[in-house]
Amino acid sequence: MVQVAVMGHGVVGSGVVEVLLNHCDSIAKRAGEEIGIKYILDIREFSGLEYSDKFTKSFDDILNDDEVKVVAEVMGGVNPAFDFTKKCLLAGKSVVTSNKELVATKGAELLAIAKENNVNYLFEASVGGGIPIIIPISQCLAANDFIEIAGILNGTTNFILTKMIREKMSFEDALKMAQQLGYAERNPAADVEGHDACRKICILASLSYGRHIYPDLVHTKGITDIKLEDVSYAAAWGGVIKLIGQVKKLDDGRLDITVEPMFIESGSQLAGVDDVFNGILVRGDATGDVVFYGKGAGKLPTASAVVADIIDCVKHLKRRKLLYWTDGDSSLVTPYEETVFPVYVRAQSENVEAAKTDVSAMLPEVRFIARNEAPADEFAFTTGAMTVADQEKAVAELEEKGIKVLSKIRISDL
Ligand code: HSE
Repeated sequence: MVQVAVMGHGVVGSGVVEVLLNHCDSIAKRAGEEIGIKYILDIREFSGLEYSDKFTKSFDDILNDDEVKVVAEVMGGVNPAFDFTKKCLLAGKSVVTSNKELVATKGAELLAIAKENNVNYLFEASVGGGIPIIIPISQCLAANDFIEIAGILNGTTNFILTKMIREKMSFEDALKMAQQLGYAERNPAADVEGHDACRKICILASLSYGRHIYPDLVHTKGITDIKLEDVSYAAAWGGVIKLIGQVKKLDDGRLDITVEPMFIESGSQLAGVDDVFNGILVRGDATGDVVFYGKGAGKLPTASAVVADIIDCVKHLKRRKLLYWTDGDSSLVTPYEETVFPVYVRAQSENVEAAKTDVSAMLPEVRFIARNEAPADEFAFTTGAMTVADQEKAVAELEEKGIKVLSKIRISDL
């Protein structure tokens, strides 16, 4: 029997214990050995559970027990998870995690420590919840150069947008519901302001391009400014608004990487990804488009990915999985101001007809769109591709002419 420890008994940690206990026979067959849970680390009290005797408040119990070969770090956050993970790897224990913040900020360092100590550091659950995406990119699609990866990477925001669009639910009520369902982060600002999706696209980019792409290099915008008016214009345009994480390799070798709400045409494979589901499109030079779809958050989907990594570690106790990237730097990423794309703009003016004439004269390929029940001083349009720097300049010029820009949203090519 191989003994494992689970660090953290929150939504994901309790799911990991549940899956390991409920599926112990089939898991033993697939791992080639029985897997026992020796410790569960949590500072809180959990009495009355059938496995209450396994709880410890001391990390040292896990670290100093040579019987524990695999540790699941499902605590979240960088501290103390970083310190605990490092110590486990140095002690020759493999670590699996759902902790996207830790992988996105310290992945290169932890992968190097795992390599030096001939153990594994696996993180399938860090992106896409229950969707297999890390192993598919690193293994099944390894023959490709990755042209682009783009996806709906945050279940909470996708759930909120779906509720707002379909049921006209308020942002606050939809967020509350996502929290009750165990989708949201402890601090849901990480979801709604785009940081969680940013961490995930950083992990996918680092894995695909071999160098660490740090979250602070990535332009990140969440969904807090999205209004139902914009949702109506998106429908009139022929699509929907989704929070997208996207990375593209440019001809100069640098990466165009961003997290922001985008207009997505109804025909896109990502347009129909609703509720807590995530969808990830991987464009390989050999495969063309491959799309991954499934539940991106929640107790059991995420636990499924963590337990799969535990099984993989047990199968590879004396061998390393080749999952690796090295340190990165800012030269890998194109500055956001230089990136080029078309936009949707919603604006306000006392003289809409004159404003429309100004807009058509100033901006490329302007097309106006209309929605029902728009106030008389509101209008909206889309443009052709422009650099972000030119977009910002145009917004300032419009404001000088008394045209107030209420929203500006990227139009995707997905
Ligand atoms: N808060 C995250 C989400 C959890 O909503 O996608 C899964 O990573």
